[in-house]
Amino acid sequence: MFSKKHKVDISLPQHIAIIMDGNGRWAKKRKLPRSAGHVAGAKNFKTIARYCNKIGLKYLTVYAFSTENWKRPQEEVNGIMNLLRDYLKDAENFKDENIRVRFIGNIEPLADDIKELIHKNEEMSKDATGLNLNIAINYGGRDEITNAVKNIVKSGIREADIDESVISQNLYTKDMPDPDFIIRPSGEYRLSNYLIWQSAYAEFWFSDVLWPDFTPKHLDKAIEEYNKRNRRFGGV
Ligand code: IPE
Ligand code: IPE
Ligand code: MG
Repeated sequence: MFSKKHKVDISLPQHIAIIMDGNGRWAKKRKLPRSAGHVAGAKNFKTIARYCNKIGLKYLTVYAFSTENWKRPQEEVNGIMNLLRDYLKDAENFKDENIRVRFIGNIEPLADDIKELIHKNEEMSKDATGLNLNIAINYGGRDEITNAVKNIVKSGIREADIDESVISQNLYTKDMPDPDFIIRPSGEYRLSNYLIWQSAYAEFWFSDVLWPDFTPKHLDKAIEEYNKRNRRFGGV
């Protein structure tokens, strides 16, 4: 367990969000095709998700494919979709892990078999009481907010009744706590359209390590750093 390794008492954030970035550069460094980077990245995602469950984290939300990632070459997109397919087929074997899997993003444009597998995995894991694992696929913060506005207008709610909680409740993350801590490896210092509403008061941790090289040790270090932050939420 995470806490036993540390002399000081370390408290876990309730919700960690990770931008799994740097697969392409990881592959390039090794003179491998970008697809090999995505394979390594997908493998690491399983390792980190399992570790988060083991240390008792309640929520982990990972960015796997953005609404902008369709701009990539068709072959690369197909490769990523195939990895998602493999993960979803395999996830049935993780039943005993007690992880609840959910997907955030617009899954409508995905292939029918992937959509079916997504529903199956969500249904199969819905009673799990361990980690809540959210996988962001075809996710974009602006797309999410646009979709929320459409739903709110459709609902016919009166303007006077619209407050922040109405908006939150119309996002993909409804009923989930906002992320406390956002981790982005790969040396980029931006959100890239990730959880832009939900991150209003999140803490950030950036690192040059590329996603396939990001280990549970890096996560421990990041959480230690998180514990030193003084979150004021606008107060004193
Ligand atoms: C993240 O790694 C995976 C996805 C965006 C799907 P990248 O593929 O963006 O890797 P870099 O940024 O090119 O190194
Ligand atoms: C963000 O990474 C999306 C995911 C990790 C899935 P990108 O590699 O797409 O972001 P940019 O293009 O560097 O901003
Ligand atoms: Mg990238």
